[in-house]
Amino acid sequence: MCGIIGYIGKKKAIPVIIDGLETLEYRGYDSSGIAYYNKKKELKIIKEQGKIAILKNILNLNEESNLGIGHTRWATHGQPSRINSHPHNVGNITLVHNGIIENYEELKKHPLVKNYKFISKTDTEVACAIINSLYNENQDILKSLEESQKLLMGSYALAIIVNNDFEHLYVMKKDSPLIIGVGNKENYVASDVPAILKYTKKYILLNEGDIGIVSNKNIKVYNQKKLVKKKILEFEWDLEAGMKNGYEHFMLKEIFEQPKVIEQTIKEYINDYDFINLPDLTKYNRIDIVACGSAYHTGLIAKYWFEEYCNMEINVDIASEYRYKKNFLDKKCLLIVISQSGETADTLASLRLVKEKKIDTLAIVNVVGSSIAREAKNVLYIKAGPEIAVATTKAYSAQALLLSILAFKTSVDKKIINIKEKEQIINDYHNLSLYIQDILSNTKICESIAKKIFKANDIFFLGRKIDYAIVMEGSLKLKEISYIHSEAYPSGELKHGSIALINKKTPVISVITDENIALKTISNIKETKARGAYSIVLSSLNMDNNKECYDDLIKIEHIHSLVEPILPIIYLQLISYYIAKLNKRDIDKPKNLAKSVTVE
Ligand code: AGP
Repeated sequence: MCGIIGYIGKKKAIPVIIDGLETLEYRGYDSSGIAYYNKKKELKIIKEQGKIAILKNILNLNEESNLGIGHTRWATHGQPSRINSHPHNVGNITLVHNGIIENYEELKKHPLVKNYKFISKTDTEVACAIINSLYNENQDILKSLEESQKLLMGSYALAIIVNNDFEHLYVMKKDSPLIIGVGNKENYVASDVPAILKYTKKYILLNEGDIGIVSNKNIKVYNQKKLVKKKILEFEWDLEAGMKNGYEHFMLKEIFEQPKVIEQTIKEYINDYDFINLPDLTKYNRIDIVACGSAYHTGLIAKYWFEEYCNMEINVDIASEYRYKKNFLDKKCLLIVISQSGETADTLASLRLVKEKKIDTLAIVNVVGSSIAREAKNVLYIKAGPEIAVATTKAYSAQALLLSILAFKTSVDKKIINIKEKEQIINDYHNLSLYIQDILSNTKICESIAKKIFKANDIFFLGRKIDYAIVMEGSLKLKEISYIHSEAYPSGELKHGSIALINKKTPVISVITDENIALKTISNIKETKARGAYSIVLSSLNMDNNKECYDDLIKIEHIHSLVEPILPIIYLQLISYYIAKLNKRDIDKPKNLAKSVTVE
């Protein structure tokens, strides 16, 4: 997602726009730009790759201007670069865009733009060229925008300035947020609350299909060729709350973004009935998965999926170990590296090591154009949007989902999963965001469990096989934001020593989704109960005959085992969050941690 800001009024436009972009930088930060009319009514477009600070250095913040638009980018199409950054200009139209024009490739062949030579790799430039061509035909921007709505598919929040029109900003909205800030003889447009809160709390919310014509004294909004009446609303948030959309912490906001993120990731790789944009992994006779922290934990989950559904043995390693170990990969092998930031030093070093041997590498990354994304031979993006909280949540779930889809496709390619099972799995993927939405719509059970155990000194997590991989992440989430000591154990291993640490009331959180070994895990849980543990079980199985093994039970939706393991972590994220909150921790920026560990 990107940040958009526009201004028209009596103030100097450039500082207002830069100020707004700086508050939106959390929405995306790989490049930024500004377009404005100066005193001589010249259109100036200044844009650069990198953070907004770089743009500020090449701007004259004091240059006279009363009308302009700005953009901070979270790349979705086209690497971060000056050419791909916004604003884009084609002929009479200059615009900034947040969203994805899904049919941009086919629009490049539309007669309206047949003579136009595209210079960037972005979908935004295509939208700009289409609108410009329509405008050149009818010299009426409102009509041109209405016409463009029939052609542009996907999502867009657009802020537009038109050549030689020094009195108006234009906006158009579909599926991406856009508001108009109402000032006194000045008006603003923005993709999000924070950008204008400093100047005004009055705003107009744009709805689907709205086209706005904004001057310094007047705002007109049209929808389906009719002028629509818009109420002027008032924000009650302060600036900080605005950036979190009203959530108390970015982590909670990002936990609640997971249904949308899951939907976006699925849409990127699965259409109604088949796979898109995914590689063929059947040609490899060995796959190593390498990552750090939570990304490593998604690799552990993938191991079980690939072994279970693809009959492929996967070696999963922590990058800081892998880079110094003897390497057994050869030309018939693949290295998959997983990284939210795409900048983790140990993961990048492991990638470079294997690349030197001319072995295939595939990166699963969130940040477009990051080092790992650029240096891997192939990259698959998880489309989670900027993740601000140090403790990963939505990126972890999206990584796990993408690995699940990769294993699923490989299994179908190897003719292991049949058509009937394939349809059931695709159906479960398409319902996954609804299941997560259900979990998020009732957090009471997580809050009540947190209240019972937040004072514990030690909290243990148990699981077997894929459930062990899941609780590895649950334990890390708890540790890194609540500072409570925690360990995740293969449940059968606890009795080989560490069960000595189980005391009366020691919380033990167990996950049971694998029905083949459920009874084994249940008997391990009973061993901890026999020593006084407080047992919390998350299970998709019927536990009616095992009530004595838990004090609290969270029922997980029972769906296909290629999809179900993505559900428990949502509960574990929430339980960790509420425990950390009760312990008054700095949840978004926990002590000693950094969002991206770029040193080894
Ligand atoms: C996750 O909550 C942690 N912040 C950390 O373990 C993180 O997963 C790890 O540093 C890897 O980061 P990356 O995904 O950006 O490579």
